Amino acid sequence: MIKRTISSIALALGLAVATIPALASEGEGLAPAGTNIRDQASLQRGAKLFFNYCVGCHSLKYVRYSRLASDLGLSEEEVMTNLNFTGAKFGEPVISHMPADDAKTWFGKDPPDLSLEARAKGVDFIFNYLNSFYLDPTRPVGWNNTVFPNASMPNPLWELQGLQTAVHGEAAPGQEAVVEKLQISTPGRMSPEEFRGATRDLTAFLEYAAEPAALERQSIGVWVILFLAGLTFLLYLLKHEYWKDVHESH
Ligand code: HEC
Repeated sequence: MIKRTISSIALALGLAVATIPALASEGEGLAPAGTNIRDQASLQRGAKLFFNYCVGCHSLKYVRYSRLASDLGLSEEEVMTNLNFTGAKFGEPVISHMPADDAKTWFGKDPPDLSLEARAKGVDFIFNYLNSFYLDPTRPVGWNNTVFPNASMPNPLWELQGLQTAVHGEAAPGQEAVVEKLQISTPGRMSPEEFRGATRDLTAFLEYAAEPAALERQSIGVWVILFLAGLTFLLYLLKHEYWKDVHESH
């Protein structure tokens, strides 16, 4: 019985562990994002970056400011003064003020809503994308990206990262030279290490935004497992108690 109890607890834990990494990483050759959405300070830093550098173009239409406050452990005032620069009300979703027509004219593309981006493309894609912009004078916006070639988004974080340029390999006849590696030609406000940390936080924030319920589900999951373990133990004691009577009556 004890063996069975232990194995059923192990099974329950195994199931829980198997369901926790809900966001499968996609794409080969991408560095792992290494995000941790249980790290609230990281989510807060990521939110700050998003609202300073991304919301000018991108919305998070499924995320409300009020929900952000409660999930990220921030007060209404903190959210409204430090994160909400669009004049939206506390209960409203995060909508960029970029008019779609202007976006098309400027970038040739609408900046997509990023609510579900982490689920659609995976966190590794976002993390690597944010680290892979390089100057490219042949592109209309002056930037290119090795993870998303010919993206029509300029590097929003260049001040932090610095200016990155590409080192090209030999070009095969009639073909464009491939980018061999990227290097920082003009340093930014952050060291490469700090910049990776910042983009990891930003990616974690978008991972959270894509599935705000994941935070809750994981903490409920722990309680469910504790409850099941406790229940198993009580049932074991109960069974012991019943069988004691049976044995005694013999
Ligand atoms: C100046 C406007 C602008 C800003 C600021 C901006 N973006 Fe973008 N972003 C775009 C445009 C335009 C596209 C569409 C690119 C394309 O499809 O060629 C895009 C695409 C993306 C994509 C890829 C979407 C896809 O197709 O899968 C991601 C991820 C992304 N942006 C993240 C960010 C993050 C994070 C920030 C803030 C650090 C940010 N963007 C800031 C304009 C912007």
